[in-house]
Amino acid sequence: MKTTILAIVLGSSLMVSAQQKTSVYLDVTKPLEERVENALSLMTTKEKVALCYAQSKFSSKGVPRMGIPEVWTDDGPHGIREEVFWDEWGGAHWTNDSCTAFPALTCLAATFNPELSSLYGKSVGEEARYRNKTVLLGPGVNIYRTPLNGRNFEYLGEDPYLSSRMVVPYIQGVQSIGVAACVKHFALNNQEEWRGHINVNVSDRALHEIYLPAFKAAVQEGKAWSIMGSYNQFRGEHCCHNDLLLNKILKNDWKFDGVVISDWGGVHNTDQAVKNGLDLEMGTYTNGLTTNGNFPYTEYYLANPFLKGIEEGKYDMALLNDKARRILRLIFRTTMSANRPFGRFVSPEHSEVARKIAREGIVLLKNDKQFFPIPVRKYNKIAVIGENATRSLVIGGGSSSLKVAYEISPLQALTAKYGNAHIVYSLGYASGPAMYGREESSKLNADSLIAAATEVAKNADVVLFIGGLNKNHFQDCEGGDRHSYGLPFGQDKLIDELLKVNKNMAVVLLSGNAVAMPWVDKVPAIMQGWYLGSEAGNALTDVISGEVNPSGKLPFSFPKKLEDNAAHFFGKLSYPGDSINEYYKEDILVGYRWFDTKKIAPQFPFGYGLSYTSFELSALTTDKATYGKGNIIKVKFSAKNTGSCFGAEVGQLYVSDPVCTVARPAKELKAFKKIFLQPGETKMVELNVKVADFAFYDEVRKDWNVEEGDFILQLGNSSGNISQTLKIAVR
Ligand code: GLC
Repeated sequence: MKTTILAIVLGSSLMVSAQQKTSVYLDVTKPLEERVENALSLMTTKEKVALCYAQSKFSSKGVPRMGIPEVWTDDGPHGIREEVFWDEWGGAHWTNDSCTAFPALTCLAATFNPELSSLYGKSVGEEARYRNKTVLLGPGVNIYRTPLNGRNFEYLGEDPYLSSRMVVPYIQGVQSIGVAACVKHFALNNQEEWRGHINVNVSDRALHEIYLPAFKAAVQEGKAWSIMGSYNQFRGEHCCHNDLLLNKILKNDWKFDGVVISDWGGVHNTDQAVKNGLDLEMGTYTNGLTTNGNFPYTEYYLANPFLKGIEEGKYDMALLNDKARRILRLIFRTTMSANRPFGRFVSPEHSEVARKIAREGIVLLKNDKQFFPIPVRKYNKIAVIGENATRSLVIGGGSSSLKVAYEISPLQALTAKYGNAHIVYSLGYASGPAMYGREESSKLNADSLIAAATEVAKNADVVLFIGGLNKNHFQDCEGGDRHSYGLPFGQDKLIDELLKVNKNMAVVLLSGNAVAMPWVDKVPAIMQGWYLGSEAGNALTDVISGEVNPSGKLPFSFPKKLEDNAAHFFGKLSYPGDSINEYYKEDILVGYRWFDTKKIAPQFPFGYGLSYTSFELSALTTDKATYGKGNIIKVKFSAKNTGSCFGAEVGQLYVSDPVCTVARPAKELKAFKKIFLQPGETKMVELNVKVADFAFYDEVRKDWNVEEGDFILQLGNSSGNISQTLKIAVR
């Protein structure tokens, strides 16, 4: 009898411990890695493989038997994409998924304000959380190498330091709401032309000094929980399964513990997908824009072929366990985390954030005779001309396209501000509908549009031309690059015709890229607005009317002509390549690094932006004259508002290394600070700058290297306007 009782007691205690053992992964109080290992130990091989590939257009399996939820991803960097049909790109026409559109990331970069980046990440993270998404497919941090790249509007500009400082708070913001950010597209996806296969050839120096820093900051400082492989190839391997990028640099050197997600259709073979660092395969058999594969998901490269390879012993179980661990870790960090915050959707707070970022990102490029601001009663008749005054700029552009709850156009906000009686509008030019994968021109007659617009402009006191680019294919749009540097749809001709009848005219550009400005000397004022999101019109009107003093700075250079740009200087092989290979011949001299080193004057330089007030940066000092390689330099300078209204200046600290065993750019941005000042106010600003940040990537040592010698610190309010220099020595 005793034995029986003992056996029952023993048995049930074994049961209890087994039960306890099995529940560890469900216990939110347990350490993350303990939960991961426990869940892994309870899963079958088939269940582990099932984690590694899509089950629908934007989702992948969990482990239903164990109560581990599915992974739901969604675009994009500027707001939460509408719900689509299970296995299609097309919208599912739900009625509860119209979101807040935040400004495009070029606008966020133009604020030079990392605090706004954090606010942005939290707000878009709350909208993703409310829509029950596990992963937000953004932010994008590919470097702006050519003004023709269709997706520059989604990224943070031409400088690796600015991109790094702005991407980290965005990721931290999104993930603070329990949604994984997915920094993209890793790496070297700097154009859309032949994006699916173009093989990028670039030196180790340019790779590490220009194209990787923002991703490295996203992983090591932002602690990104996922990263998206890019479509293109790098040194002969597709980046979604690239041994050097994913295994060596990302996972080994940078210690990335998150999930590598493929771009949609970026996976091309099982062997490399298994061995070269990919964890989650999405969108195979599509081109990431339109084509829908008609293959069952089990045909994916990491599906049955992978399972078969494991069962036959071709692939080591350790490879599968690593992928499964990373995906489980992502799930326990998000949908199964203990204190996952709640989200909110289309809230007044999100509208305020969108408006605040848009206002701070707008860049005043020219303002002769104080054309701006335009106080409400200054003019009786204001002519507003141009399609971008009324066209929706949140739709189109590819995967970042949004179905929004609302979008305030410039014309709506200007009319509300200045009064219906004082605003008269004419379309001026027309571009045709925003389509994926192809362009359709407008049916309207261009000459009659111009005639109507000049008639309106002739009879007005002032003209606001609101044009630029849009999200049509071959404009600012995924899947294709622009074919020319100039403004499209006959805008230059229209601007000339308008100037003939009224010289009191400003050009306001809404775009995500630089454009040629043949009229730059003929117009008194130019304003660079970005894709400003749901609050576009309000933000633009806030700045035009003087409610807000513009403080944006250009996150990329505006060349006078395309051939002045580094990537285009070296001809077709440099951009867009020969359809198989592309060679980044400018190497490390991207953007202002090129213009400053080659002494080519840009139309408007990186970091440039005017204000309605004026500032003085002075008294640049450092705490010492000589530093060791591991030191931090305490830089101080004074910023004064010498004008008549409240505003903000961006103090930018560039560094040059005049004597070095390798060629280095004329200068490189190594610190910046946005300073808000009342009229007459002065503030002392402190910047801590690491000497280690002065390093170049040494291709011999295959590591970073700071050579001893003098370095010149250069303080300015743009890369083209240095007001103070100071020499320090590194010993
Ligand atoms: C697209 C894009 C990527 C996007 C994904 C899902 O092709 O390259 O940025 O997140 O597919 O739409």
